[in-house]
Amino acid sequence: MDYRNVVGSGPELAGFSADVLLVVLTPEHSRTGSAPLDALVSEALSAGDLELKDGQTLYVHRPAGLKAPRLAVAVAGGDTPRQFKAAIARLAGHAKGARLTHAAVATAQGLAVTAAHAEVLATAFGDATYVYSLSKPSAPKPAALKKVSLITTAAEATAAREGLARGQALAAGSTLARELGNRPGNYCTPTGLANEARQLGKAFKHIKVEVFDRAAIEKIGMGSFLSVTNGSAQPPRFIVLRYDGAAKDQAPVVLVGKGITFDTGGISIKPAGEMDEMKFDMGGAASVLGTFRAVAELKPKVNLIGLVPTCENMPSGTATKPGDVVTSLSGQTIEVLNTDAEGRLILCDALTYAERFKPAVVVDIATLTGACVIALGHIHSGLFSADDELAQSLEQAGKTAGDTAWRMPLDDEYGDALKSNFADLGNVGGRAGGAITAAVFLSKFAKAYRWAHLDIAGTAWKSGAAKGGTGRPVPLLTHFVLSQQGKGALVPKQAKATDKKAAGKGAVAATVVKPTRKAPARRAAKA
Ligand code: BES
Ligand code: MN
Ligand code: ZN
Repeated sequence: MDYRNVVGSGPELAGFSADVLLVVLTPEHSRTGSAPLDALVSEALSAGDLELKDGQTLYVHRPAGLKAPRLAVAVAGGDTPRQFKAAIARLAGHAKGARLTHAAVATAQGLAVTAAHAEVLATAFGDATYVYSLSKPSAPKPAALKKVSLITTAAEATAAREGLARGQALAAGSTLARELGNRPGNYCTPTGLANEARQLGKAFKHIKVEVFDRAAIEKIGMGSFLSVTNGSAQPPRFIVLRYDGAAKDQAPVVLVGKGITFDTGGISIKPAGEMDEMKFDMGGAASVLGTFRAVAELKPKVNLIGLVPTCENMPSGTATKPGDVVTSLSGQTIEVLNTDAEGRLILCDALTYAERFKPAVVVDIATLTGACVIALGHIHSGLFSADDELAQSLEQAGKTAGDTAWRMPLDDEYGDALKSNFADLGNVGGRAGGAITAAVFLSKFAKAYRWAHLDIAGTAWKSGAAKGGTGRPVPLLTHFVLSQQGKGALVPKQAKATDKKAAGKGAVAATVVKPTRKAPARRAAKA
């Protein structure tokens, strides 16, 4: 989709040629400065066909005095980007007709168009026009719409252009994440995800992709990750993406995404109801790929690494059993008390792997716990970090993007529940505080750098009639990455406990856990 800004005044709206003219009013601002348009709106108001209330819309075919053959008017609740987005989402429904290729968007005088408004215009159109069709030949044809023009004043033009470019990139990234999430487990396999990553590497010259197969993952020593793949016929993959946007010596932001392409629970098998939704258990991985897609277009001066451990979690005669003890890449052993707590088992090895990049910050993204859905519902993602500055940056990025996260506690005391008699750690800590104990488990593998965890179990997809991926949290992550340019960037934590200078600056000392022994292969070769 081509989003562009056109400078135009109210009186020029009548002569503007587009297949459909979409107009946003608010209760406070209801006049556009176009005489025929304002007359039409006044008439509709007095006829009772339109009210200046949030949620109202009016469609007019062949509107008198306007060149555009179709007109749709929506009333937003107010001036904020969020309210504007809701109005645009309704209007976009009127721009899906088979013969409509060009939509123009105008706003009432007094409704100030900022970069944030332009950005949500593009993301709202992206959301509204996406159609899933890969495994559904009967799906409706995608909208014919090719071009959206946002008409603004000259003073608003620079911000509008900037916002449209950002929104266009965000829409592309979110759409990729939605699409990957929506693909059934037999379409979106670990190999399939790796191929999608490779395609990003081909399409964008700043992105490089490396894919590790089972033998390579064994060689690295990711015994915890591999233990999850034991019951599956689909081979695992470990995907490493890099986007080089800054000087080589600049510490990278590392994103780690959970890529379980189907989660049956393994031997601790899940109940049948809604188990199909566990195809969305690669939402973290999808958001990492989606963020790379957006970043590749926006080209921020940041170095970015994406790590995606991806596999299926299946029961079988070769599957990991409750009580099995596995050795993680960090050297810490883990008693797998519940094979359904598999996300943390694949993430912990990727978190240890992240150390080698000497990251500025590491953020992992995972559809990790049902408990997080109980705690926060489907509005906010769960945000866990012991690092206030990093947590605040992520919270702010979420607010700016309209893709919010809510900070949750991460006290060490929750870790008591993870004690095991047979290993350094158990992989579950009981039902109480389940989202927090999962985060504390991950924290044991993230001591060498500044780290945050996003639990997106409640936000990555929708259930029910609108079942499907949401593309979240691509907008939050992309805004976070954009915020890490130049002076505003978070500085890496000093990794050495003995570094007096760092200690003097108040940095938290960290002990890097070195792998003490090589993880044994968890499974005999399949015959
Ligand atoms: N992928 C699930 C988490 C999940 C469940 C997300 C339902 C969204 C909806 C994860 O692998 C899982 O099964 N977690 C368990 C952990 C438990 C065994 C400690 C859970 O949440 O029940
Ligand atoms: Mn599970
Ligand atoms: Zn899972």
